[in-house]
Amino acid sequence: MRTMRSVRIAGTGMHVPPRVVTNADLMKLMDTSDEWIQQRTGIVERHHVDAGMGPAEIAHLAARQAISNAGIAPEQIDAIVVASLSPQHDFPGISCFLQDHLGIAGCPAMDVRCQCTGFLYALQVGELYVASGQYDRVLVVGAEVHSTGIDLSTRGRDVAVIFGDGAGAVVLEASPDPERGILSVHTHAEGKFAKKLWVEAPGSSFWPQRITHQMLDEGRQFPVMEGRFVFKHAVQRMPEVIEEALAHNGCKLADVNLFLFHQANLRINEFVAQKLQIPPERTYNNIQKYGNCSAASIPMLLHECLQAGRVREGDLIAMAGFGSGFTWGSALIRW
Ligand code: ACO
Repeated sequence: MRTMRSVRIAGTGMHVPPRVVTNADLMKLMDTSDEWIQQRTGIVERHHVDAGMGPAEIAHLAARQAISNAGIAPEQIDAIVVASLSPQHDFPGISCFLQDHLGIAGCPAMDVRCQCTGFLYALQVGELYVASGQYDRVLVVGAEVHSTGIDLSTRGRDVAVIFGDGAGAVVLEASPDPERGILSVHTHAEGKFAKKLWVEAPGSSFWPQRITHQMLDEGRQFPVMEGRFVFKHAVQRMPEVIEEALAHNGCKLADVNLFLFHQANLRINEFVAQKLQIPPERTYNNIQKYGNCSAASIPMLLHECLQAGRVREGDLIAMAGFGSGFTWGSALIRW
C-alpha cells in the first residue's frame, strides 16, 4: 500500500495582459457608470488581451514564473492541469497548447472545466497526483480570457463589467515537512442550477449544428447570469465550505491567518467576511484591479500575497470559491 505524501506549493506566478480597461472605458461601449460598477462590484479596472494572446499564452507567462519561483526547469514538470472556462479552442484543451509553449512533451496535460471554482478542483487533482506518488511535480494553472467572450454592449452590461483576463499558476511538489502543505481540498457541485450562470452556445446538444447565424444574432454565445440568485448562493456556500475545511482539520476560524476568496464580486466577499466575522486584515482582495478572472483569481491572489509579504512560514491559509455549475470549494494550506 502506498502512503500519502504531504504536498506543498513550491512556486507561484501570475500574468495579466498589459491593456487596462477602466470603468470609464466601458462607459464608451455601453450604458453604465463608474459609480454603478464600483458600488455593486468594487471593480475599478480590469485587463483585456490584445490580438495574439489567448488563454494558453497568458497561462504560459504565469506558468514560467511559477516554475522559475519553484527553482526548477519546465522539463521537471511531470503533469499539467489547467482550469478555465474560456478554452483556447473547443478542443484540444489549453493544457496541450501550454505544454507546447513550455517546450516540453510527453507529460500528461489535462483541462478542468469547473468555472470560478476551477482552480480548487485543479488543485485537488494536482494534490492527489503528488500525494499518491503518481507524479513528483505538477503545474496547476488557472487562466481566463473573458474579454473576447462577453457582450461589450448595453445588452450584456451586467456580466461584461465584472470579468477580466488573467492567469495564475502554482507548482506542486512533495513537502519535506509532513505538517506543512495542502491540508485538504473540498469540492462540490449542484447541477440543477447550471443555467443560472452559463453560456448556451455553441453546444454539442444543438442539432444539426452547434451554433447557427441566428443564435449569434440573438447573442446566445454570451454568458448570462441571474445575478441576485448567484449572489445569494455564493454567500451561503462559501462560509459553509470554509467551515467544512476547518472542521475536517480540527481548526477554528481564529486559527486562519489569511482568507483568499474567489474574486467574483467585492460585495460577496465583504458579505462572507462579515458572516464569518473575519477582520479585514485577515483577507485580501484584488478584484478592484483585475475584475473577476474566474479560475485564475485564487492563484493570482496567492501570488500577490506572497509578493507583498502577506504570508509567513507556518501561516494557515483558507481559500474558497463559488461559481457557475453551481460549483464551490475550499482549500486549507499550512504554509
Ligand atoms: N451598469 C448600469 N446598470 C446596470 C448594469 C451596469 N453594468 N448592469 C445592470 N444594470 C441595471 C439593470 O438593468 C437594472 O436596471 P432596472 O432596475 O432598470 O431593471 C439595475 O441595474 C439593477 O440590476 P440588478 O441585476 O438587480 O442589480 P444588482 O443590484 O443585483 O447587481 C450584480 C447586479 C452586481 C450582478 C449582482 O447581482 C451580483 O453581484 N451578483 C452576483 C453575481 C456575481 O458576482 N457574478 C460574478 C460572476 S460569477 C462568479 O464568479 C461566482
